[in-house]
Amino acid sequence: MLLYSRLTQNEKNMKGKKFYIHTFGCQMNENDSEHIASILIAAGAVPSGEMEEAEIVIINTCAVREKSEEKVFSLLGRLQGLKRKKKLTVGITGCVAQLYGSQLVEKKPFVDFVAGPDCYQNLPSLIPLSQQQKVISTEWNKNWSKEYHPLKFRQSKISAYVTIMEGCNNFCSYCIVPFTRGREKYRPFEDILTEIKDVAQRGYKEVILLGQNVNSYLDPRSGKGLPQLLREINSIEGIEWIRFLTSHPKNFTEEIAKVIAEEEKVCRQLHLPLQSGSNSVLKNMNRGYTREDYLKIVSLLREMVPEISLSTDIIVGFPGETDEDFQETLSLVEEIRFSNIFSFRYSPRPLTSASKRKETVSLPEKRRRLIELQDLQKRIQLELHNGLIGKKMKVLCSGKSKKGDGMYSGRNESYQVINFVSRKDVIGEFVEVKITSCGPYSLNGEALNP
Ligand code: 5AD
Ligand code: SF4
Repeated sequence: MLLYSRLTQNEKNMKGKKFYIHTFGCQMNENDSEHIASILIAAGAVPSGEMEEAEIVIINTCAVREKSEEKVFSLLGRLQGLKRKKKLTVGITGCVAQLYGSQLVEKKPFVDFVAGPDCYQNLPSLIPLSQQQKVISTEWNKNWSKEYHPLKFRQSKISAYVTIMEGCNNFCSYCIVPFTRGREKYRPFEDILTEIKDVAQRGYKEVILLGQNVNSYLDPRSGKGLPQLLREINSIEGIEWIRFLTSHPKNFTEEIAKVIAEEEKVCRQLHLPLQSGSNSVLKNMNRGYTREDYLKIVSLLREMVPEISLSTDIIVGFPGETDEDFQETLSLVEEIRFSNIFSFRYSPRPLTSASKRKETVSLPEKRRRLIELQDLQKRIQLELHNGLIGKKMKVLCSGKSKKGDGMYSGRNESYQVINFVSRKDVIGEFVEVKITSCGPYSLNGEALNP
């Protein structure tokens, strides 16, 4: 039986229950999982390190690419097996939950509840009281509706994710996000500042502001935008590094470049998704800028912030992408020399306008293009990293490195990964590190601590 209405009064049921959350997807999903965990902990549930030991398992899902969705269904297969052996409540949250809603329960009857990205704040009321009930919740709120409560659970003790807006109005033709996260909604300025002051007091050194399109952030009350927000955060004592993602080139303004240049704590690093170097592909993707516009932003940024490090997202094999189009992507990557690239094979997504286009690039050709792009980027990264050998840089240490005893790991202002030797434990601290060697994906060095 499907019960679509919200269940209430089941908080008591949560006391001492062990829960486990498996997160797929972007940083916002990771932050959502921290919120979900905090809500469950506030209701008396306890986090479990092992899925097999939990009584409630929540999969916080991503739908952005076909592969992300496949991973969700493969984990669901494992959970079905587990549920045969023990009493277990299975919930699906996030973008796949929003996309398929009740179909998930119809196809996978062992799933107990489904909650979209705008509904999890109603947990634990969404968790069915009995195994016979099913709860589906996929409503969207037009405006920001998530009340601020200090998080009781964060993955990191050093770097805090802080969501400032959610949703997207851009409708890039390949992208499912406007259909899973809805239209843009902006979190009140004061809420954001309160959360950041709270994490600063708890000893966090870095904040990463999150949103699908952070450049269009507007405080619903005062109309203040991202530049003012960054300037205010810059004055919060204790926070030393501020990052924000994701930026859309269409909404990128000189004012934001100015803030990066002027505000000491705003990292000289920017993730600016390019998607393609070809104007005809960009037009078919409905990106709202040209190759030339993108290059103009890059030169403006490099003029105003010479040390800025840029990373990007690129899709290969979009319908209609010819070999010449792909060559234009390669030549732009060669010209810009990004510090990092996240590259993907195009996959059609339900509801998107691109999914109605005929696929013209075969799977082997998409794979070939992806490898060629990644090989080019690998060469560029190795060259950039080699240029850093012998240099000293500030690193925020996030933990022990897997590379061996006495080794630590962290990131520099450019968000590059550094593995380094240190005589003392420096987890959570800023350290001066001298780079001694490198590979294409990370840098190695030694801490210059006394
Ligand atoms: N196919 C492949 N990659 C995609 N992305 C978004 N939608 C698709 C899709 N349908 C990529 C974009 C985006 C990143 C988060 O995922 O590069 O910036
Ligand atoms: Fe995936 Fe996008 Fe949803 Fe993040 S917002 S989880 S990237 S579909």
